[in-house]
Amino acid sequence: MSKNFAPIVTEKFTIRQFRAEDAGDIVRNISSDKIYAGTYRIPRPYTLEIANQYIAERLESYAADNPKSMLFVIEVDGEVVGDVGFKYVLGHKGEIVYWLADKHHGKGVVSTAAKLICDYGFDMLGLDKIYAEIYIDNIGSQKVVEKLGFHKEGEMKKHLVKNGEFKDIYYFAKFK
Ligand SMILES: CC(C)(COP(=O)(O)OP(=O)(O)OC[C@H]1O[C@@H](n2cnc3c(N)ncnc32)[C@H](O)[C@@H]1OP(=O)(O)O)[C@@H](O)C(=O)NCCC(=O)NCCS
Repeated sequence: MSKNFAPIVTEKFTIRQFRAEDAGDIVRNISSDKIYAGTYRIPRPYTLEIANQYIAERLESYAADNPKSMLFVIEVDGEVVGDVGFKYVLGHKGEIVYWLADKHHGKGVVSTAAKLICDYGFDMLGLDKIYAEIYIDNIGSQKVVEKLGFHKEGEMKKHLVKNGEFKDIYYFAKFK
């Protein structure tokens, strides 16, 4: 598995590896009702300590021979405004995840970033399948993966529990 990752620079944003100094931007931009509602693993409140721990895990994964996750930041005008990558790398398959600061929603950032990360996953990580688990009421995220050619493999009932409530998800996938 090759995990070399040179920053990807586009007109609108850059995708690059996490850095220790990103914590402040992450805390400020991740702390949104919409991001909290659409995701499963992002805690609230999201503290500097949580961000520092998260970044430390990312830096460990970059150094690992067989990383179990591979995540990157989305940077706009020098500010970290999101996260995109593979929360899990499980042999031949990877789970794609992403969030973006509210102020940049609806500008095509995540659909472009996720496409670039899928290419990286297939070409550089050697993945054969990329999947996404998306709440059935998260229409924006479903649109993102549909734009990228993911197909819906199924609906999973009571798949997750968030704040004591069951959450149904759609499982989307794309093959190499
Ligand atoms: C979902 C999310 C990642 C979308 O990011 P984005 O950069 O705004 O998405 P894009 O601008 O690339 O939009 C892709 C498509 O989805 C559509 N879309 C985006 N958000 C939408 C929404 N809330 N409702 C309906 N359509 C939406 C866009 O119109 C676009 O379609 P088009 O190209 O046909 O116009 C972003 O809203 C977000 O970070 N949400 C909170 C965190 C989250 O839900 N993460 C995913 C967990 S599975």
